[in-house]
Amino acid sequence: MQVKLRIFRFDPQTDLQPHYDTFTVNSEPTDRVLDCLNKIRWEQDGSLAYRMSCAHGICGSDGMTINGVSALACQKLVKDFPPDKEILIEPLSVFAVVKDLVVDLEPFFEREKSVHPSGGIALTEAAEDVEHLQSMEERARFDDDIKCIMCGCCVAACPVNQGEDPAYVGPAAVVRAHRYIFDSRVGDTLKRLQIMDTPHGVWSCKSYFKCTQVCPKKIQITKHIVEVKRKILSDLRHKK
Ligand code: SF4
Ligand code: SF4
Ligand code: FES
Repeated sequence: MQVKLRIFRFDPQTDLQPHYDTFTVNSEPTDRVLDCLNKIRWEQDGSLAYRMSCAHGICGSDGMTINGVSALACQKLVKDFPPDKEILIEPLSVFAVVKDLVVDLEPFFEREKSVHPSGGIALTEAAEDVEHLQSMEERARFDDDIKCIMCGCCVAACPVNQGEDPAYVGPAAVVRAHRYIFDSRVGDTLKRLQIMDTPHGVWSCKSYFKCTQVCPKKIQITKHIVEVKRKILSDLRHKK
């Protein structure tokens, strides 16, 4: 079958304005959108810029906007889209475009780091030379969080990050905070809650659920955000 892709193009070094190019590729219905992009780059236009590495939903590098929805190009199949229509490919929203589908994720990584108190991760007291034990239930408390591959799709999809409060730390950073706040071995929970309880912290989230809908690892992001809010209320504010 033939697939048409309408792709956002912009090189800030040379272009005054973005534009769109349309490409037609021969593909199988089970090909991924990433396979189509690779065919375009290898056979038609070597200047098309996008990130990819693992091609299997592991590295998180090929996040982009496909028909208006944040997604990994390696997880979307050609047959997922109407066969008689072009597939619209654009960069992740919220982030600055470096070139074509490549965006600057440095601010995203900075916000991920900002959830940690200065001085790194403080563990709870454990006797010297003794294993820091954790029950299966305690370990399961943050299982979902550690599936995050830092693709940025949730932030790009979040209406708060998109405009209501662009400085909002973002869903991925709250997932990162949740991972430590609910780890029984971590001893600086209150400091982590204080970081979340600041302007542009967790309270900027309005529970739109867009992040949860697009997360390629199916992390229950909004649920974890609500758990962090509840923990702030129970452990921080009600103890003042
Ligand atoms: S929470 Fe999901 S969507 Fe957000 S960065 Fe992690 S894997 Fe990507
Ligand atoms: S639930 Fe919160 S973080 Fe997720 S999209 Fe909505 S406002 Fe953004
Ligand atoms: S290329 Fe690695 S997640 Fe898609």
